[in-house]
Amino acid sequence: RSAHYYYQVIKDNGFPLTDDEKSLHGQFPKSFNWSTASAAYQVSNVGLSIWDKFVHTPLRVANSDNGDIACDSYNKINEDVEVLKKLKVTHYRFSVSWPRVLPDGTNNHINEAGLNYYHRLLDALEDAYIQPQVTLYHWDLPLALQKVGGWENETIVQRFRDYADVLFNQLGSRVKFWITINEPYFVYIAAHNIIKAHAEAWHLYNDKYRVTQGGIISITINSDWVEPRNPYKQEDVDAAKRYLQFLLGWFAHPIFNGDYPDLMKTIIRKRSLFTSEEIKRIKGTHDYFGFNHYTTVLSYPFDLGKQQDYEGDSHDRTWIESGSFWLKITPFGFRKILKFIKDEYGNPPVYVTENGISERGEVNLNDIHRKYYYAHVLDGVDLRGYTAWSLMDNFEWASGYAERFGIFYVNRSNPTLPRIPKNSASRYASIITCNGFPD
Ligand code: NOJ
Repeated sequence: RSAHYYYQVIKDNGFPLTDDEKSLHGQFPKSFNWSTASAAYQVSNVGLSIWDKFVHTPLRVANSDNGDIACDSYNKINEDVEVLKKLKVTHYRFSVSWPRVLPDGTNNHINEAGLNYYHRLLDALEDAYIQPQVTLYHWDLPLALQKVGGWENETIVQRFRDYADVLFNQLGSRVKFWITINEPYFVYIAAHNIIKAHAEAWHLYNDKYRVTQGGIISITINSDWVEPRNPYKQEDVDAAKRYLQFLLGWFAHPIFNGDYPDLMKTIIRKRSLFTSEEIKRIKGTHDYFGFNHYTTVLSYPFDLGKQQDYEGDSHDRTWIESGSFWLKITPFGFRKILKFIKDEYGNPPVYVTENGISERGEVNLNDIHRKYYYAHVLDGVDLRGYTAWSLMDNFEWASGYAERFGIFYVNRSNPTLPRIPKNSASRYASIITCNGFPD
């Protein structure tokens, strides 16, 4: 699209629809949640968290980038809500930073200024008729808790419950969509405690807040789709099954079906197993299936010689690349994994809480690959919402600012950090306006 178009966008304070786009018709339910997302540490300084320590340790993050300022969202509520309005999203997913609200990780001391930031953000969203989807934990653990073992120390289950209590109590009258934990990953003891912490937060909400506040709460799990590298080779087919159970099943199976997946239990044997009381307590702690999805991998058995501790994976060379080595554009995998979730976990209502694509290198606002990526057709599943990751280019963890996932480009060489729409912004806005895709 031409510079003239962007001039129009800025002038009209929105995204004009092309004639083609006007002919789109609605294919999604009327109540569908159209969302985009960010996470606290990726867009703002949050105080003393494990990420703060990590980024200031030499050689950890690409280009020695850090999140000291990030997109400065802490001071830019209005700018952020303005771009959300332009996208015409119905919802905005963001995370509350645990150390910002409870600096030492415990509820002995609440940082009122930190809490107040969320009230101001919620005010601005309310004024814009945009509903919040709030993640309690998106990886920025208070450093103080890491010092006593972090997720490996079982007392974190109670700490997380206390933190959740503060948020439900303080923000719950305004937030109707909660995500306990974003994308837990795989370390046996930590994962074990994460699942328990999630379950306790869900029970707390269910017992103490649900009747008065009336929201929904669940966990968000990430999974790639997995294809056998060679579908005619039994060992590759078996590797694909294991891969999926160790990726998605590790967290989804205890919460939706009860206990770790059988296939996983036979492999890990006695490492972190749940007691029968724990299995009962954890099973059913979901109001929906929160799902992050990005790509597909090809699997083959892991190679002891290479000292891998997970199944091997690779990509097909014909798949279109992105700015992240692990992310190739594979829309077919999205449909397959949604079908897998439907069959494996009893057709739960699914909210896609992240889906996106990155680029790196020279800035080009004509992000054709992202427009293509967002043109998926998602059918046959009880899909209630979709969230584009991410609202704007931000701190991509260990990759720093080199991998850009945003629908809006953040010009980091300008001290005001302006949010500038990429072409996909208007595309996403028109999909939302039409509630669907062209035939
Ligand atoms: C998942 C994470 O939740 C998010 O923080 C990250 O930026 C995206 N994936 C892209 O890697």
